[in-house]
Amino acid sequence: MSTILVTGGAGYIGSHTVIELVKAGYDPIIFDNFCNSKPAVLARINKICGKNIPFVVGDIRIREQLEAVFNNFKIDGVIHFAGLKAVGESVQKPLEYYDNNVNGSRMLLSVMKQYNCKNFIFSSSATVYGEPDVVPITEQSPVKRANCPYGQTKVDVEYMGEELQKADPEFSIVLLRYFNPVGAHKSGLIGEDPKGIPNNLMPYLTQVAVGKLKELSIFGNDYPTKDGTCIRDYIHVVDLALGHVKALDHCLNKAGVHIYNLGTGVGYSVLDMVNAFSKAIGYELPHKFAARRPGDVVQCYADPKKAKEELGWEAKLNLDDMTADSYNWQKNNPNGYED
Ligand code: NAD
Ligand code: UFG
Repeated sequence: MSTILVTGGAGYIGSHTVIELVKAGYDPIIFDNFCNSKPAVLARINKICGKNIPFVVGDIRIREQLEAVFNNFKIDGVIHFAGLKAVGESVQKPLEYYDNNVNGSRMLLSVMKQYNCKNFIFSSSATVYGEPDVVPITEQSPVKRANCPYGQTKVDVEYMGEELQKADPEFSIVLLRYFNPVGAHKSGLIGEDPKGIPNNLMPYLTQVAVGKLKELSIFGNDYPTKDGTCIRDYIHVVDLALGHVKALDHCLNKAGVHIYNLGTGVGYSVLDMVNAFSKAIGYELPHKFAARRPGDVVQCYADPKKAKEELGWEAKLNLDDMTADSYNWQKNNPNGYED
C-alpha cells in the first residue's frame, strides 16, 4: 500500500481524487493551507470514505511545513494540486501566482528530492497548448507561451519537472493536462465551491439554476464554430480523479517524464452546455449573448488516446452525468461549504 501526499487535497479536484485513491487502496494524506477551500470539506471526505483521512494544514512554500510531513510519514509519491487557478486574478496579481505556483512547486520538488521521494504527479492544464493549431489536441501538440500568468505558471512548472528529471533520472514526473473539469461526487456531499461570482461556465450555470444569479452571459456568439460559441472538452471530475489513480498505478517508480491529456475527446459548445442544463432542470436556463471574453481560445478538445492505450483510462461519464451531478451538488449546498 503506497502513501500519497495530496497537496491541495481539500480543493475541488483534490477532494474527489482523495476519495478515488482510498477506493483504489492508496493511503492519501491531505496537505492544504485552505486559501481556496474550507476545512468543512474534510468531514465530508471522511464520511464518503468511511474513515478519517490524515490531513495537515500547511503551505507548500514553507520548507519546514513540508519537511514536517515527510518526517512524520514515509511518502511514496506526491499528487500536486495546490495552486492558484483564476486566470483573471493572475493578470492582476502575477507575482502572487508565480510565488504560489512556481516557487511553491519548486519548494515541493526540492523537499521531495531531499527525502528521496521521486514520484511526482502535476496538475497541468490544456492551457499549455494555447490556441491549438489542430484539434483534437494530442500530447505532441506544441506547448506555447501562455496568454496569462496562470497559464505560464503551468508551462513553467512542466519545464521545471522535465529539467529536474534530466538532472536526476530516477524521478518519475507525470504531467496531467486537464481539459475542463465539471460535475461533482454523486453523493452531493462534495463539489466545486468557487469564491464570489464564478468565472467558469459550469458553476455559473448551476448558480443561475438555483436562482443565485439572474442569467448566464454567453461570451461571444460569432466564433467560427457550429453555433458561434466556443468549444471545450468538459470532463466529469470523478473521471478526472480516476485518471490520477491510473497514472499512479502506471507511473509509480517508473522513471521518466510521462505526459497525458485527461479529457473525453468530445467538444461541446457553450450553447450545447446551456441546452444540456436546461434539459436537466426542465426549463430553459436564462441566458443572453454578450461580448467575447478576451483571451478565450475558440476550440479546445483532447485526443485522449494516449491515456487509454498506456494507462487503461478513459472518461466514462457523459454530459448528462456532468450536468445532473453539478446541479445536485449546488441544490444540496446552495452556499457551498459553510464554515
Ligand atoms: P482548488 O482551488 O479547488 O484547489 C486547490 C487547492 O490548493 C485549494 O484547496 C487551496 O486551498 C490549495 N492551495 C493553494 N495554494 C496552496 C499553497 N501554497 N499551499 C497549500 N495549499 C494550497 O482548484 P482545483 O480546481 O481543484 O484545481 C487543482 C489544480 O488543478 C490546480 O493546480 C489547478 O491549476 C489545476 N487545474 C484546474 C483546472 C480547473 O478548471 N479546475 C483545470 C486545469 C488545471
Ligand atoms: N463562458 C461563458 N460565460 C461565463 C463563463 C464562461 O460564456 O459566464 C464560456 C467561456 O467564454 C468559454 C467557455 O464558457 O468559452 C468555458 O469557460 P470556462 O471559464 O469554464 O473555461 P475555460 O476553458 O476558459 O478555462 C479553463 C480553466 C482555466 C484553464 C483553461 C484552459 O478554467 O483554468 O480551461 O485549460 F486555463
